[in-house]
Amino acid sequence: MRLRSMSLSVMLWLLAQAACAAEPPKNPVIVASVSSPGSVLKVDIGIDETRASYGVSRLGVPLIRPSRLGFRLRNTEKLDRNLELASQSTSSFDQTWEQPWGENRRVRNHYNELRLRFTETIKLKRSIDLVFRVFDDGVGFRYEFPDQPGLQDVIIDDELTEFDVVPAATAWWVPAGEWNSYEYLYNRTPLTEVGMAHTPMTIRTADGLHIAFHEAALVDYAGAWLRRVEGQRFRMELPPSGDGWKVRRAAPFPTPWRTLRIADSAAALYQSNLELNLNEPNKLGDVGWFKPAKYVGVWWELHLEKTSWATGAKHGATTANTKRYIDFAAKYGFRGVLVEGWNVGWDGNWFGNGNDFDFTRPTPDFDLEGLAAYAKQKGVHLVGHHETGGAVSHYEAQLGGALDLYQRLGVDVVKGGYVTDDGQIERNDGDGVIKREWHDGQWMARHHLHVVQEAAKRRIAFNPHEPIKDTGLRRTYPNWISREGARGMEFACWGNPPNPPEHEANLVFTRMLSGPMDFTPGIVSLEGRKQAIQTTLAKQLALYVVLYSPIQMAADLPENYEKQLDAFRFIRDVAVDWDRTLVLNGEVGDFVTMARKDRNSEDWFLGSLTDEHGRVLEVPLSFLDPGRRYVAEIYRDGDKAHWKDNRFDFAVEKREVTPSDVLEIKLAAGGGQAIRFTPKGRK
Ligand code: NOJ
Ligand code: CA
Repeated sequence: MRLRSMSLSVMLWLLAQAACAAEPPKNPVIVASVSSPGSVLKVDIGIDETRASYGVSRLGVPLIRPSRLGFRLRNTEKLDRNLELASQSTSSFDQTWEQPWGENRRVRNHYNELRLRFTETIKLKRSIDLVFRVFDDGVGFRYEFPDQPGLQDVIIDDELTEFDVVPAATAWWVPAGEWNSYEYLYNRTPLTEVGMAHTPMTIRTADGLHIAFHEAALVDYAGAWLRRVEGQRFRMELPPSGDGWKVRRAAPFPTPWRTLRIADSAAALYQSNLELNLNEPNKLGDVGWFKPAKYVGVWWELHLEKTSWATGAKHGATTANTKRYIDFAAKYGFRGVLVEGWNVGWDGNWFGNGNDFDFTRPTPDFDLEGLAAYAKQKGVHLVGHHETGGAVSHYEAQLGGALDLYQRLGVDVVKGGYVTDDGQIERNDGDGVIKREWHDGQWMARHHLHVVQEAAKRRIAFNPHEPIKDTGLRRTYPNWISREGARGMEFACWGNPPNPPEHEANLVFTRMLSGPMDFTPGIVSLEGRKQAIQTTLAKQLALYVVLYSPIQMAADLPENYEKQLDAFRFIRDVAVDWDRTLVLNGEVGDFVTMARKDRNSEDWFLGSLTDEHGRVLEVPLSFLDPGRRYVAEIYRDGDKAHWKDNRFDFAVEKREVTPSDVLEIKLAAGGGQAIRFTPKGRK
């Protein structure tokens, strides 16, 4: 028998796990309820055997069966039993607010709120508050630790929040707690086969209901992973800090919001603004100094290994090479020029070499000051780069000076980088002990906000790679403009395996639900380092519309664009800041079509893309202004295009359309389509 061969320690561990995996609630007595404004969603709060739970239903159909709440705390008793409802109150909210930049100018924030206080009936008599905000397209809830004598220094060893999903479902997810922070291919599995997942995790039930599990306002707390306990029951798992516990805070404080977007289509799931609405309003005031824009840069050539980050004969960040990019940007109307490998410390194997980086000293062959002046004279801005290699304390020590330097030189957008294995971020508190942190632990949540706030003081916008996940904090800090946090184009260059044709159709309905991504599209040469890129040419253009970011890179080499001027035209023309976004069709992992209205003109742009299957989509143009005629510039797959063996088959056409037309969009296998609609004549 297997048990006999188990070591004692394994058996003890299993017993401990079983004890933790507490029984789900049985027939809790409902003590409070709240419904969404349109009575679509309902949350019921129950108590069974002195323990609190919550459940969620949609139009009367249970989706989340009664699920546990609570905390395991250090140096004190667990906070999840002997609870009674001490008070409850409800309120309603309906306001429309404006985004300084984004997918939509106006966002409606409409919910009913239920606030509850639970108090222990015996011993410590501690209290904990729970707040639920219920929208028609989702639910957010959080805990608030009140100011109370018995619980000041709160050390969280585990958050016990659970999600017990009722209907059988398929899940799209990437693993959490692994060596790479977020850069994985998406798994599509039955929900019962998920292990430990990052959020957003998206699921679809047999009836076509979509739920995305995520969080909002991750401030001074650990980012949450989703661990499957059994069946379709999940528990939040927080990455540990270098101190051993998961989170330490002084009360009073709120946790991040635990969120569930719930919609009857993939399109509606994307269109929900749940997490943005659960974040605090803008704390920075007017951020008109941030200009949504496109940029080029010394980047793809580094990934191709044509040039190197390291100094020496192959160094990419030279004055002459950068001038070439500045000239190119000026000629074709790009605002930014990113240069990586510009600073002292990139020599040798920079992976794991972060303590050598100097963020204020350029390499001798890179005339930073001269180049900033040269760019300025051409109406171009250098985009800064801070790769930390995961040596984050080392970086923090230089942060002020590094940002001052950029501010002085007019560098107002900075790309960050945290390349190191997950759990290996280097923290040095100056006490002689090096601690290791996770990319999404509490310490890094603090770090990212610190960088963003320091940058904001200097009117600099930030775009971290290998970041912490996006939880809608761009609403509060609108200089946190974009980030990576998934496999971007670099994996098409050298990833093993490379990004497959379904990758972007997965991203749209998972990672992209959390916010903008610096995917770095537009590789019109369709070649990586010794591997072909698994999209058609037209699909590279569609990415600019489908994968939202207020800064978009034209990532290919200048000489490649000059060989593909037809396709390049769309990259030059496409907008980056939107008045409105509509998802016209789509299925998770299969295909999507989006239309976005430019904020700065009357133009509309459409992007459509598919996985490895070709398809024909009928798209009504009813989103266009009624009564107007438009010129549609259509960048489409050629009739024989295929991601595998005919990637460059491509056509550009112009035709006149009206809002009553229905467009037939033909997508090749691994293909896409991009359209610019320009109105004819004035309104
Ligand atoms: C990984 C980033 O995703 C990539 O864009 C960057 O070029 C390298 N790190 C170096 O910082
Ligand atoms: Ca990366």
